[in-house]
Amino acid sequence: AEIIIVDSQEQAGDIYAHCVADLIESKPNAVLGLATGSSPLVAYERLAALIKERKLDVSGVQGFALDEYVGLDPEHPESYRSTINRTVTVPLGLNPQSVHVPNGDPAGLQTAGAAYDAAIEEAGGIDIQILGIGSDGHIGFNEPGSSLASGTRMKTLTEQTRIDNARFFDNDIEQVPVHCITQGIGTIMKARQLILLAFGKGKADAVAAAVEGGVSSLCPASALQFHPHATVIVDEEAASKLI
Ligand code: F6R
Repeated sequence: AEIIIVDSQEQAGDIYAHCVADLIESKPNAVLGLATGSSPLVAYERLAALIKERKLDVSGVQGFALDEYVGLDPEHPESYRSTINRTVTVPLGLNPQSVHVPNGDPAGLQTAGAAYDAAIEEAGGIDIQILGIGSDGHIGFNEPGSSLASGTRMKTLTEQTRIDNARFFDNDIEQVPVHCITQGIGTIMKARQLILLAFGKGKADAVAAAVEGGVSSLCPASALQFHPHATVIVDEEAASKLI
């Protein structure tokens, strides 16, 4: 992967925003892979500003989120459907019908993963996938041990991820769903370009393992080493354990 070390999240966000804005300009029906979590928030803000500034037509743009909780009402404010709507769809001015999130309804889980991968294919594949990284090296909700060839499917959240995400559920781990549906690592690897953002010293070990460690399912993000067009954008703290 190409590594870019930046001074600030704003600088990282600008790099992402320019990549996506240039893409939309040349390909009005661009397909964006979307992540939740804190890492991409400034990047989405920068992109929203650039779309306005350049008066880009985003009516043909489609989006596909990485993951969703299982069994959480899509209307729940912390569902990834709601989160993506609030942080991406509305600020970027995307057509809500064109923004897809995996279906976390427990009733349809046997088929929801394959249907999601098929929908991505049908849209022409993801052009630019933005990613964050977990402190354990996860991407999407692919925790350590996930198959590097996996498609979208249901997974069980680790205790650590549920503890980390309790902050969005009144700090009550009991309210954090136990299962999720996530794009697989194989799904993510099919995107034509990957941009992974990581900030802060809590990400330093995961970034070093992902970029300079062996490729292994024990660090799902290490799969990026096999991607022909992956960019890892980190601040000084997140870069601090790189050789
Ligand atoms: C989000 C996702 C996760 C996060 C990761 C980092 O859709 O799939 O992999 O990207 O947990 O989260 P933050 O950015 O909050 O540190």
